Amino acid sequence: MPRATFIDHAGESRTVEGAEGENLMRVAVLNDVPGIDADCGGECACATCHVFVDDAWLDKCGEPTELETSMLSFAATAQPNSRLACQIILTSALDGIVVETPVAQH
Ligand code: FES
Repeated sequence: MPRATFIDHAGESRTVEGAEGENLMRVAVLNDVPGIDADCGGECACATCHVFVDDAWLDKCGEPTELETSMLSFAATAQPNSRLACQIILTSALDGIVVETPVAQH
């Protein structure tokens, strides 16, 4: 199964495994990773699954949809490498992906 590493605002790192085809938000929630609130349950409607994708992995995540880009515009701490974890589908190509969770979500 592909692995994903979540780094929190304090620098603590957690590496978890997720099923291929699962989105990164669900992988975090299923593994009790803190900092991913996912209030809307993955409907791309809350931005509480906001993560900063490590630059080495950003292109592999594909382009965000217009809706995701719009939601991210409401995130106070959005950066060029911001994505919504519920919109990133874990595949073998993303095995090893590294993301940081914003301090606002802790
Ligand atoms: S869980 Fe709500 S936007 Fe991702």
